[in-house]
Amino acid sequence: MEKIENADFKHIGNQLLVWYKKNARDLPFRQTKDPYKIWICEIVFQQTRIQQGLNHYNNFIKRFPDAKTLAEADENEVLLYWKGLGYYSRAINVHKAAQQIMNEFGGVFPDEYDEILKLKGVGKYTAAAVSSICFDGKIPAVDGNFYRVLSRLFADDFDISNSRAFNYFSELAHLILPENVGDFNQAMMDLGSEICKPKNPLCGECPLNNDCLAFSLHKISELPVKKKKVKAEDLDLKYYFVHRNGQFLIQQRKDDFIWKKLFEFPPTISDDLIPFIKSIKTVNHKLTHKNLSIEIFNVEVDSEDAWNKFVTENEYKITNVEGSHEMSFPKPLENYIQSYDKAYGIL
Ligand code: ADE
Repeated sequence: MEKIENADFKHIGNQLLVWYKKNARDLPFRQTKDPYKIWICEIVFQQTRIQQGLNHYNNFIKRFPDAKTLAEADENEVLLYWKGLGYYSRAINVHKAAQQIMNEFGGVFPDEYDEILKLKGVGKYTAAAVSSICFDGKIPAVDGNFYRVLSRLFADDFDISNSRAFNYFSELAHLILPENVGDFNQAMMDLGSEICKPKNPLCGECPLNNDCLAFSLHKISELPVKKKKVKAEDLDLKYYFVHRNGQFLIQQRKDDFIWKKLFEFPPTISDDLIPFIKSIKTVNHKLTHKNLSIEIFNVEVDSEDAWNKFVTENEYKITNVEGSHEMSFPKPLENYIQSYDKAYGIL
């Protein structure tokens, strides 16, 4: 980086802003500077594609239009509105952060980067995005888009899986940072998702192609460099779909490990229920750092006595398909309930 420190790259940031003025995506949260809405959109769209998450974002904002409404809501309702977005700990965190805003910040969204960073679930990226978009903060919102665009722009092979990558690319970003950092951050997001894509980037249409070193050196496909592959852990799970006359048993998961606070089927059954197992389905499901193999046992309890005994001896909640719509389940369990509903139509 030493060689380029004295050069002037500011025109690159400004060029990007010119492109953004003409090509910015028309997104609902671009018509507001309300930090609450921008914060929610940054959390929703951090790990979810815009097309996939837009309806969820709109519904969420409609139901919880401000921090006060969100803070006062029941956690399970917040989880319900997050249904389908995945990464449910984000929902639990935004709920807690809304309560922090009410209790620790007097109901006013904090306007300083360091203060925004204190909110539960808010990392450097989100704090930078909110502070730059809403309060003219001057900090680049460095994420995977920044890593990709900057490593290509400067033909820089710094390993993006290195723990120092965030600081390294933050410094690089400062080299091209224009005055309007809020627009710049959003322009980098749009450029990263529409033009400078991981695969088959549209370099011919890129507003920065004249300055892009990787483009002129034909190194686009080699960048960014990612050395370390985080190996996903294999995990086997068992669930028992214990049902009788359209009702089935569930419980809520704890606030630790995977699928925090979501609902699930019983993970064990008593020996008396074993004769009622009618079939087993195995489902594979990937989480960020886990490859799950889930066996789901269909336990159709034909005996009222056996059902009553199991229900009284355990603390499961009884529900049916309709009731399950009011709760959030991990995707594979949700799919199981749906396929069961379709096949039998009785639950
Ligand atoms: N992804 C996350 N936040 C975004 C934003 N503000 N604009 C575009 N894409 C985004």
